[in-house]
Amino acid sequence: MAEQGFTPPTSEWYHPSADMVEGANVPDYEAVYNLALQDPEAFWANRAETLEWYKRWDRVLDDSRKPFYKWFVGGKTNMALNALDRHVTTWRRNKLAIIWEGEDGEKVTLSYWRLWQEVNKFANVLRGMGVAKGDRVTIYMGRVPEIAIAMLACAKIGAPHSVVYGGFSEQALASRIEDAQSKVLIACDGAWLRGKIVPLKDMVDEAVQRSPVVETVIVVKRTGHDIHMEPGRDFWYHDLMALPIAKTEAETEVMDAEDPLFILYTSGTTGKPKGVLHTHGGYQVHPPPTLAWVFDLKEEDRWWCAADPGWITGHSYIVYAPLILGATSIIYEGAPTYPNPDRWWRIVADYGVTILYTAPTAIRGLMRFGEAWPNRHDLSSLRLLGSVGEPINPEAWRWYHRVIGKEACPIIDTWWQTETGGFMITPLPSVGLKPGSATRPFPGIQVDIVDDDGNPVATNEDGNLVIKSPWPSMIRTVYGDDDRFISQYWEKYKNQGWYLAGDTARRDEDGYLWVIGRNDDVLKVSGYRLGTAEVESGLVSHSAVAESAVIGIPDELRGNAIHAYCILVAGLEGSDALEAELKAHVRHEVGPIAVPAQIEFVENLPKTRSGKIMRRVLKAQALGQPLGDLSTLED
Ligand code: WT7
Repeated sequence: MAEQGFTPPTSEWYHPSADMVEGANVPDYEAVYNLALQDPEAFWANRAETLEWYKRWDRVLDDSRKPFYKWFVGGKTNMALNALDRHVTTWRRNKLAIIWEGEDGEKVTLSYWRLWQEVNKFANVLRGMGVAKGDRVTIYMGRVPEIAIAMLACAKIGAPHSVVYGGFSEQALASRIEDAQSKVLIACDGAWLRGKIVPLKDMVDEAVQRSPVVETVIVVKRTGHDIHMEPGRDFWYHDLMALPIAKTEAETEVMDAEDPLFILYTSGTTGKPKGVLHTHGGYQVHPPPTLAWVFDLKEEDRWWCAADPGWITGHSYIVYAPLILGATSIIYEGAPTYPNPDRWWRIVADYGVTILYTAPTAIRGLMRFGEAWPNRHDLSSLRLLGSVGEPINPEAWRWYHRVIGKEACPIIDTWWQTETGGFMITPLPSVGLKPGSATRPFPGIQVDIVDDDGNPVATNEDGNLVIKSPWPSMIRTVYGDDDRFISQYWEKYKNQGWYLAGDTARRDEDGYLWVIGRNDDVLKVSGYRLGTAEVESGLVSHSAVAESAVIGIPDELRGNAIHAYCILVAGLEGSDALEAELKAHVRHEVGPIAVPAQIEFVENLPKTRSGKIMRRVLKAQALGQPLGDLSTLED
C-alpha cells in the first residue's frame, strides 16, 4: 500500500544554469539516453572499456538462464584492481582517497598509495589466517577508515564480504553470520555515537555465542574501553598488522567477472533477511558512471556521501565507485547533530566539500534547528546536492536547495535499491528538476509503471515500478536461495521478464517519475529499510507477547514511524512499564533502528481467512481512513 495522501506537485520547475549544463560531464541527457536505448549492451560495454580487465569478456550479456543474467562473461578482473592497483602506478598515488573525521575531532587522511598499502597488509593478514577465495567474511564495525580497508582487502583476496550495519544488534548480526556461514568476523571494540560508546564487541560476543560458526574475530581498537578478548578466537587488528606477514604488497586474486564480490543483507517481506549478491564484473561497471555523470564528479571534487558503509549507499558511493574513479571520498563518524547541529556544515567548510549526498530524513532533522546553524559556515564550495533512501518531501527539498545550496546547486534525487547496486532513476545535472521527483531513468535503464497485469498505467495514476531490461550491477541472486530470488523479484511479471521493484510510482504529464513508497511489507524508517516481520519477530521473542503486527505511520521527521500492535499471552495485561520493556527488548534483539515509536496492546488482529494479518486495515484504522474492501477479513 502506498503512502496515503501524497500528492506530488507537478508544475514547480527548477532549471539548471547554463554553466552547469555546459560544464557537465554529460551535457545532453536525452541524447545519451536515446543512444544507450538503441544498444544497451554496447552502451555498458563502452563503460566496461574504461576499466582494467586481466582478460577481456567474450560476451557482454548472457541471458540464456533468465532471470540469472550474467554480465561480461569470460572476463577476468578484480574490484581491487580497478579501485586501487591501477591508481598507484599513476600520479593518483599521491591523491587523497579517503578523508576521515572522528566524532572526537580526530582526523585521518589516506592517499591512494597509503590506502593500497594498508589494504595489501590486511589482505596478507587475512590470507595468513587462512581466509581463501570464496570464504565469506562478516564485517561489523563503526564508521572508521578500517571498514573500507577491510572491504577492499576481502575484495582483493576474493573473499566475499558481508557488512552488517553497526546499528543492528546481536540477533540480527547472528542470523546474518549464520546465513553467510562466516568463519571470520571483523569488528570494532566500540563506536562513538553522540558522545557515547556503542559496545559493538559485547554484541559480537553474544552473536558469536548464538552462531558458533565464527572461529576468528579481528578487533579494531576505536573506543579503547574494556572489552572481553577470547583467547585463541579474538585478535587485535593492530597486533596482526604489525606481524611480519603484513607485508605492503599483496597479489590481487584474479576473479571471474561473475564471482561474488559481496553479500549485503536487506529486509524483505519475511523475517529472514535476504542476502543480496553482487559480483566483481558487473558491479564495477555500473556505479562509477552513475557517480561521474549524475554528480558530475571531476578530478578536483571532494565528494561526501554521508551514509554508512554498512548500507548499499556506502558500499557503492562511499567506497567502490569513488575509488574506481580516483576520487576523494569523505567519511565521518558520529551523528549530524553532535556536538552541535552544525557538525555537517562545519565539515563542508573545513574540507571544502563540493558534493554532498544524504537522505531526506537527515535534511528534515537538520532543518528543525533553523538556518542560523548552516549560515554560520561558508558553504560556497558546494556544487551539487543529493538525496536518497525515500521520497524527499518538497518542503525539505526547497530548504536544502535554498539554505544549503544557496539556489545554485541542483538537488539530485536518486532512486535505487540494494538490489540494483547503483542509481536507476535520477536526474543528470543538465536536466530540469521538480521537487520530489527522481525525474528520469539513467541511460541504459528501462523502467515502466504498470498495473497488476502488466499494462502501463495512465498518466498520474499509481502503479508498480518495474525494470524492463537487465543492467550490470543487478542482484544476481538471494544468497543460498534462488527460489526466493525468483519469487520476490521475477514471479509477478514472469511472462514479461520484468524486475519488480516493490515500489508504487507514477509518471506525470512531462514523463517525470514520482516514487511514492513501498507497496510490500517493507518499511522505510529514517531511510532505513526494515521488514515488518523483523520487528514482529523481535516482539514475539519476548515471553509476554503472543502475536504482533507492525505498520508504518507517516511521520514528519522519519518518513515513517513504527507502530506495533501486540496480543499478550493469556493472563497478562498491557502497561506503560511493559511497553518500555518491549521497546528495550526490540532494541536489544534487532537494533535501535527497529524500536517501535508506539506499542498498542490489543485483543485481536484483523486477519484474512487464511490467517494473514491485514496490515492495510490496521493502517487505515490508525489514520482514520476508510477501511476499504473487507471481504477477505475473517471476523
Ligand atoms: C528502497 C530501497 C539505494 C540506497 C538506499 C536505499 C526507497 C530509495 C529513493 C528515492 C523514493 C526511494 C524505495 C526503494 N528509495 N531511494 N530517491 N525516492 N524512494 O536502499 O535500503 O535497498 O531501499 O528505498 O522504496 O525501493 P534500500
